[in-house]
Amino acid sequence: MASRGQSTVDVIVVGLGFGAAFVPIYQAHPSVGRVAVADSDPARLAEVGDRLGVHDRFAGLEDALAADGWDAVHLLTPVALHADQVELILDSGRHCASAVPMATTLDDLDRLIAAEARSGRNYFMMETAVYSREFFQALQLRDSGALGRLSYFRGEHLQNLDGYPPYWLGYPPMHYVTHALSPALALADARVDTVRCLGSSRLTPDRVGVAGEGFGTEAALFSLVPRDGSPAADALVANITMSFFQLGRSYLEGFSVYGDQGALEWPQLEGGPMKRFAMEPAAAGQRGRPVSVVDVRPPGAPELLPEPLRPFTDGGHGGSHPHLVHEFVASIVEGRPARIDARRAAEFTAPGICAHASALAGGAEVSVPDYRVSG
Ligand SMILES: NC(=O)c1ccc[n+]([C@@H]2O[C@H](COP(=O)([O-])OP(=O)(O)OC[C@H]3O[C@@H](n4cnc5c(N)ncnc54)[C@H](O)[C@@H]3O)[C@@H](O)[C@H]2O)c1
Repeated sequence: MASRGQSTVDVIVVGLGFGAAFVPIYQAHPSVGRVAVADSDPARLAEVGDRLGVHDRFAGLEDALAADGWDAVHLLTPVALHADQVELILDSGRHCASAVPMATTLDDLDRLIAAEARSGRNYFMMETAVYSREFFQALQLRDSGALGRLSYFRGEHLQNLDGYPPYWLGYPPMHYVTHALSPALALADARVDTVRCLGSSRLTPDRVGVAGEGFGTEAALFSLVPRDGSPAADALVANITMSFFQLGRSYLEGFSVYGDQGALEWPQLEGGPMKRFAMEPAAAGQRGRPVSVVDVRPPGAPELLPEPLRPFTDGGHGGSHPHLVHEFVASIVEGRPARIDARRAAEFTAPGICAHASALAGGAEVSVPDYRVSG
């Protein structure tokens, strides 16, 4: 079992739906010692354990936490379990990576910030969107100056959840905003100050579920302010549409970023090329500045990873999975907080909780808590 500063980490992956995709990445990581799996569904546990050659298996999180000798847990259980289970994991003295979202109430976000602080262990929210090849491309354009001064963001997550496990029934779309919003917050190094959101398409009675009456689609305007506490020198907005029900449209999950010199736009159809725009010099006598556009297929950033993890950048969610594993493991080995620690995770998650509250209040402006240490 490693402590801070030691060279290897023993990891338990808990929840083997989406979680199964991460097991081979941990197995390949040079700083990971042993990898175990846990799932309360015995058939799933046996299938994944056998297929991936995992010897150490647990019948649930509770069994896993009762075992000695494991440093870290990567949690991929249903959303409603995240808050209680993350707190248990941190209080057991283990580091915890969690699938999104961190939680679905502001009280639970506060609870996990407190749990991370008192445990002295790392919490890392595994936000795929800010480790995707598209996000690395946007970062490169921002840092090279190609975007100019950031001026606007868009994000969409349109997905039909009919037929999903019951814990998704009637799930408020904005409670899952992190994929669509976090790229804007990361690129602008910002947090959300206020939100105004409207709901569209009331849930039909058969779709009212985990959160009561609500909407199939929620559309929000998030007002961004700098994280460093400096007064907002500019107005910056992220315009986000989330839809999980009653929208006859194919899956789309992405972000677009705009600056005064250029832009990077997510394709209209998932899998298509991104579009990169560049503002050209004004021509005498011409109305409006010309803008060039080219297709972009971002290469990702495999060079940031240990060599054995690089082949995994061909995988889903923009090749983000090996980057997430590496960040979690490296943060533990290097004895530093993870990049999306509990406070940053709350900054990614709370705006959606507040947006849904705004939608239920007919679009009223809602203030988002300030999660900075000094805030
Ligand atoms: N891009 C992304 O970041 C992304 C993509 C997909 C899913 N997710 C998140 O990953 C999580 C899992 O999603 P999924 O689609 O795999 O869900 P799922 O319902 O298919 O799988 C969850 C698994 O957790 C197991 N489980 C439940 N309670 C447990 C316990 N106490 N101990 C051990 N195992 C337990 C269940 O048996 C099940 O196999 C969700 O929180 C979801 O939001 C994130």
